[in-house]
Amino acid sequence: METRILPADSPDTPEIAGEIIKNGGLVAIPTETVYGLGADGLNPEAVAKIFLAKGRPQDNPLILHITGPEQIPLYCHHVPAGAYALAEAFWPGPLTMVLPARETVPKCTTAGLPTVGIRCPDSAVTRAIIAKAGVPIAAPSANISGKPSTTTAAHVLHDHNGRIDAVVDGGPCRVGVESTIVDLTEERPRLLRPGGITPEQLLEVLGDLVVDKAVTAQIDKDAVVKAPGMKYRHYAPQCQVLIVSGSREKAAAYIRRHYEPGDRVLCFREELPLYEGCNPLSYGLEADVSTLSAGLFSALRELDDPAVHRVFARCPQGGGVAYAVQNRLKKAAAFHIIDPEQTL
Ligand code: TXA
Ligand code: MG
Repeated sequence: METRILPADSPDTPEIAGEIIKNGGLVAIPTETVYGLGADGLNPEAVAKIFLAKGRPQDNPLILHITGPEQIPLYCHHVPAGAYALAEAFWPGPLTMVLPARETVPKCTTAGLPTVGIRCPDSAVTRAIIAKAGVPIAAPSANISGKPSTTTAAHVLHDHNGRIDAVVDGGPCRVGVESTIVDLTEERPRLLRPGGITPEQLLEVLGDLVVDKAVTAQIDKDAVVKAPGMKYRHYAPQCQVLIVSGSREKAAAYIRRHYEPGDRVLCFREELPLYEGCNPLSYGLEADVSTLSAGLFSALRELDDPAVHRVFARCPQGGGVAYAVQNRLKKAAAFHIIDPEQTL
């Protein structure tokens, strides 16, 4: 199969991509977070193609992408007022809500769960494609399962060229990490995955928020977790990734002492001069965390190379979007964190 590349700014793209989706095909769609691998979320055969293309475990549910809050009742029931308040505040945008699923949503989309993740992306072309298709688009991040997510059309083609019908090229993703996921099916709202909408922003609208343990700690692969995707090794290059915490100087001293040929250093742009001779790669500015979230997956994909033996990574501190960057890096590092103050 030839994978068509459809420019996001071409007036024909929504029609062409919508038609492919309607006919049960696969289209990679741009969003503000990462590229998604989209199919008709109400068509079990189309959804099965997503799992096959990604090599995704069958117990990992998909997010339904819709055109706006007016579509929530089509796919969800018992929708709490907080869901509409969140949609009003943050949609279109990088927020997924988990709500009780209606029978209209097939089991393969929800991986058999009684709930469904739903989101309205902040990409005009993608919303136009959903509208033209006339169905919600089920879309996981477009990467092959376990690999770093795709934030450009080139990343998507690297993973799927010749195996999907089309990719809509909307340029690099603005946020660069996947959407925030909040579960609204229990008594208290629960953060399942941090992202572009911060815990602070959720709290301001909801007045309450529990952070799921899968956000902050390594989860056993046999554990029962709220967001099944959170227990798998994720976002990771093939080699070992070690986060080195601590001050700029202490971390650099530690890394320079332990650096061996074949290692790489993933650092902030401000730190590049400290790692001369250690093959550093910067993923953005520490002083502007949005550049770190936007650059993280491109950098992790570059490091996903058999020639790279080990990665020493620097991770931003603090809350807000830095919290999402920490979460992805810690997962890529399987929570291996070195504190140079405590280690020789
Ligand atoms: O930003 C995003 O959310 C991107 C773009 C394409 O929209 N999509 C994305 O999908 O990140 P994916 O499949 O890579 O991650 C979805 C996560 C998985 O961890 C999955 O387990 C969880 O959401 N999830 C989906 N439906 C769920 C549900 N009903 N209950 C709990 N977790 C759910
Ligand atoms: Mg993913």
